[in-house]
Amino acid sequence: MFARRVMVVGTGYVGLTTGACLASLGHEVVCADIDAAKVERLRRGVVDIVEPDLAELVAEQTSAGRLSFVVGAGAALGSFEDGRPAEVLFLCVPTPMGAGGVADLRAVESVIEEVGAELAPGTVVVNKSTVPVGTAARTAELLERTDVAVVSNPEFLREGSAVKDFLGPDRIVVGSDNQDAAERVAALYARLGAPTVLTDAASAELMKYAANCFLAMKLSYVNAMAELCERVGADIGDVTEGIGYDRRIGQAFLSPGPGWGGSCLPKDTHALLQVADSADFEFRLLRATIDTNTRQRQRIVDKVRLAVTGKRTGSLSRVRLALLGLTFKAGTDDLRDSPALAIAALLRQAGAELVGFDPAFVEGSKNRDGAAPPTEIDGVPLAADAVSAAQGAEAVLVLTEWPMFRTLDWSVIATAVKRPIVIDTRNIVDPATLRRAGLTAVGLGRRGDGDIAE
Ligand code: UDX
Repeated sequence: MFARRVMVVGTGYVGLTTGACLASLGHEVVCADIDAAKVERLRRGVVDIVEPDLAELVAEQTSAGRLSFVVGAGAALGSFEDGRPAEVLFLCVPTPMGAGGVADLRAVESVIEEVGAELAPGTVVVNKSTVPVGTAARTAELLERTDVAVVSNPEFLREGSAVKDFLGPDRIVVGSDNQDAAERVAALYARLGAPTVLTDAASAELMKYAANCFLAMKLSYVNAMAELCERVGADIGDVTEGIGYDRRIGQAFLSPGPGWGGSCLPKDTHALLQVADSADFEFRLLRATIDTNTRQRQRIVDKVRLAVTGKRTGSLSRVRLALLGLTFKAGTDDLRDSPALAIAALLRQAGAELVGFDPAFVEGSKNRDGAAPPTEIDGVPLAADAVSAAQGAEAVLVLTEWPMFRTLDWSVIATAVKRPIVIDTRNIVDPATLRRAGLTAVGLGRRGDGDIAE
């Protein structure tokens, strides 16, 4: 394998993981960011992102001399050993969703503006961020360089296992209208021995959306199926176990929940809908996937209403509720598009009084921005532990699948609450344990839960 000189612009979640992992594969990597304070922290080995193994990998690769950090893309150009030029430039800058679901490409444009003209002939520019179909072509236009190729190489990293996902990928996707450049990018990953799909740029760009929207669809399907289970007296756990043995379906991504969220699935489903709209294609399946997810949040609120008041139309005004888990999933401190927070907002609108607890935000936990844990999130005051959150509550909601919620001492919670109701939107706490503690368990689509009926 050839060690390449790789420049990564943007040291966010994707950029830093990409930089550190490519260095660990033997490449010489220079990471650039416009945030000087962040670069200074990274140089000292301080990683603000909460991601298993990432800080260790950054420290290891920095001291091995394969990974370094500079301020600004321009500075990265001259930072390789012996002053030689970068061979590959990874664009890992944010592409947030702007108005109407269109990705905002200003960060990509500004990097091209800054260093486009300075790149050595033969450099390959790689788009790693999830971008609209056609961005590689647009990047090439902005570059105005016939001697610099543009390649799309989407990432498929999950928060909480990004390093593992990068170094043990299901597949590598590289798309370009310049096959030679695509092969050079694929070769960066050769050591991983992963199946590699070499394709055109538009297909690679679409593939990222196709994967994430399929996952979102799978989850909306499961959440709808859980609702159907409740209506016909079936059990979603048994149903998903049964269908999951079918290898065409698989066991993964079949857990019902309060709806899917996070920084990718909501953004990507809306963006693909936008892509479809502008291609004059009515993607009804995708629209239904999104609508089912929006409805799921309301469905949880309806469940709370019914469980607490005994009526579908009962009032939640001044009803105290404990919310366990506020992040969009377990194992992260990421609150972006968290279904828990969306549900909290609906509950507050309905007049409920909320107290939250999340193990990502307790004394001593290290948060994304390196700051001390907040005392409230989105107007939800935080308690120091689950029992304090449950104090005086008329229902306890489990909203994130943190493993610690399974093993809480629920009999202590039972003595703290005002009314013994637990609404487990992730179906993670054993209902028998709750019952033994004297608590009524309400899950999603579970047989025998006895959704407290009107
Ligand atoms: C996702 C994709 O998995 C990843 O490939 C892509 O690169 C980025 O988006 P991530 O956003 O980190 O990764 O979260 P993921 O683990 O996929 O979960 C997404 C949402 O679905 C979360 O809200 C999670 O709680 C929910 N989920 C997931 C379920 O409700 N049930 C499941 O069985 C799995």
